Amino acid sequence: MGTVRLKALLLSCVLAMFSGSMNAQAISHEEAHRKAEVLLKQMTLDEKIGQMSESSGVVMPMLNSEKPDELIAQGKVGSVLWLIDVKEINRLQHIAMDKSRLHIPIMFGFDVIHGYRTVFPVPLAMASSWDPSVEEQAQHLAGQDARAAGIQLIFTPMVDIARDARWGRIVEGAGEDPYLGAAMARAQVKGFQGGTLGPDSAVVCVKHYAGYGAAEGGRDYDSSYVPEELMRNVYLKPFHAAVEAGAGSVMSAYMDLNDVPASGNKWLLTDVLRNDWGFKGFVLSDAFAVASLQVHGYARDPEDAAYKAANAGLNMDMASLTYVKNLAKVVKEGKISEAQIDALVLPILEEKYELGLFEHPYTDESKVELTLNRPEGLALERKLAGRSMVLLKNENATLPLQRSVKKVAVIGPLADSIADIEGGWTVEGLFGGGRKSHPVTVLAGIKNKLGPDAQVTLVAGPEPSRIYPGLLDLMAGRKPSPPPTAEETADWLAKAKAAAADADVVVAVLGELSSMSSEASSRATLDLPGIQEQMLEAVAATGKPVVLVLENGRPLDIRWASEHVPAILEAWYPGTEGGNAVADVLFGDVNPGGKLPVSWPRVAGAEPLYYNHNLTHEPEDRTTFTSRYWDINSKPLYPFGYGLSYATFKFDHLRLSSKSVKAGSATEVQVDVTDIGNAAGDAVAQVYIHQRAGSASRPVRELKGFKRVALRPGETQTLKFTLGKDELEFWSPQTKAWVVEPGTFDVWAGEDSTAGLHAELTVE
Ligand code: NOJ
Repeated sequence: MGTVRLKALLLSCVLAMFSGSMNAQAISHEEAHRKAEVLLKQMTLDEKIGQMSESSGVVMPMLNSEKPDELIAQGKVGSVLWLIDVKEINRLQHIAMDKSRLHIPIMFGFDVIHGYRTVFPVPLAMASSWDPSVEEQAQHLAGQDARAAGIQLIFTPMVDIARDARWGRIVEGAGEDPYLGAAMARAQVKGFQGGTLGPDSAVVCVKHYAGYGAAEGGRDYDSSYVPEELMRNVYLKPFHAAVEAGAGSVMSAYMDLNDVPASGNKWLLTDVLRNDWGFKGFVLSDAFAVASLQVHGYARDPEDAAYKAANAGLNMDMASLTYVKNLAKVVKEGKISEAQIDALVLPILEEKYELGLFEHPYTDESKVELTLNRPEGLALERKLAGRSMVLLKNENATLPLQRSVKKVAVIGPLADSIADIEGGWTVEGLFGGGRKSHPVTVLAGIKNKLGPDAQVTLVAGPEPSRIYPGLLDLMAGRKPSPPPTAEETADWLAKAKAAAADADVVVAVLGELSSMSSEASSRATLDLPGIQEQMLEAVAATGKPVVLVLENGRPLDIRWASEHVPAILEAWYPGTEGGNAVADVLFGDVNPGGKLPVSWPRVAGAEPLYYNHNLTHEPEDRTTFTSRYWDINSKPLYPFGYGLSYATFKFDHLRLSSKSVKAGSATEVQVDVTDIGNAAGDAVAQVYIHQRAGSASRPVRELKGFKRVALRPGETQTLKFTLGKDELEFWSPQTKAWVVEPGTFDVWAGEDSTAGLHAELTVE
């Protein structure tokens, strides 16, 4: 056994000894329920409402927030968010346990989106793996880290369907497809929570319920108008999957859904979530969303906001203190019964029991750093990052590069940007007072791979605050830095060109600052910001082979690159070990197997763009009357499900066990996939269907199965998929119910959403 593995084993033993798990036992839901009911009987109305309130742990002068000490002592806080200082977490927990009348522990919540200290690829990247075990493994480690560091409630997974790359939050989810999204949602719940909640797991909070990704124009927080059939058939699917997988909580979204704000929307929070799906956990609002019901023009005043949210079925108010200040009055006025309040509090208490918080309320401060620095985290991160990358183009087998290459020019502002390789939403980068990880940039990764003998030259270009005019300054409250002058630009372009001319190969690392993606980060264009496109054109003009590595949180307008650059690798924001993982792929130690979880638009004006659209009217005269833009090809540049490999795969022999089935029963789809190239690699088999006619128009294609498999050259595997009720049904706007309708279905299998291998299925 190597020393590294031995050390890791010893460390795991030490952690297990330290860990509360040796003496803390998980309890059943029934037992937690009994205990919660006993406790509830002892609680005053104010204490109950207190449990329904999540307070900010950080003071925010702009929001008039205060330290929650006093409220906690009065038993008026059930949860605290935005804290990761363990000493402070324990200090507040001591107030709850020592000073509040009933000694009910606080549940601490935070955004642990893609890792804690070890930062995994951003969720859109992990979804690109088309391998749910990537999400599960990453979130399992992240959950263990979070729990050991004092966080028991995790505001993840974000399962919003995003059909518009202008929307900055597309980076936080699994892309545009409900089937893929549901698989990734399930895997994350499993990763964080395990089978049941216990003293070592954390409760997930599935967000943002629901329809948030349909924001008009891709503008964050803007209204969504989504008819019920589209909600049920698309937007709600991943939420339902997460709830079925046992998600302990759900976060209600900010925006209006069909003119009723999600955080006061009874149809969403009660009719669908509780009554249709049988959800037993609690609903937490998004931050300040209860107070914001007034901003929407939905609630008259804070009291009305508290009433509308609670009456809709919202259990916990995040950060706005609207419940604490107003809900008791609403109850006293008889608008809401105390029985309603009891039903809202109960799941919160149950989960605190399930998490073992009453027995072990405090975080072991001596254990935190040991856990967060576990070496296996980084090894796993590098592996999962490699599985998440998508090879978009590889003309003349430009990739993989030879390890013997002597001179590499690395170009672009992201090439050595420690601040960007991990992506946004990092725990310690948020309120944590600074990054404690050691991210490996692409430049560092290439140097690590090639060793000291190779000459690796960096030409970064103007500093990020000048290449992305204004953004960083805006965030830091500074005056915007001026964009580079014409002379400076010419100088950078000349330097990039000279470095390229002197190199054997050019690696251009371009994209967006990580802060350009995520919340409140919509864009009207998808251009490569700043002078990046010019830098790319300058280095390509030298005639040297250029590899474009993209670091970004959304598809970008790379039309020029797609025509002129021989190799393009989509790395997204690949995480702490991202640079090493990129180098693994560039130099062939890892064969890329990721596929796009989104349709890649040519320009922003083509959005929203998604493969599973309806056909609608198609005139006979398709020369004059077509659904097109005059000025641009409206088809995606790269389709949903697309991605290359260093291997070549062939799909054939698509067959169905029965070509005709009764509604409600299933057929098995089989397809053979063979590696016909010279390299071993991963293929992702994808199965799509289309219902030809019925009570509603159905999408031209819908993903209904996928599998990522590893193949050796010459190897064939037969892959099996089921098409049954779950796959063939849809919510019909005519019958307002889930239906499997008799008729003919097209079935396709292959490498992406344009797969041509076809069969027919009849449902009787
Ligand atoms: C607002 C964001 O919309 C949500 O995703 C996040 O979990 C909360 N703030 C808490 O930070």
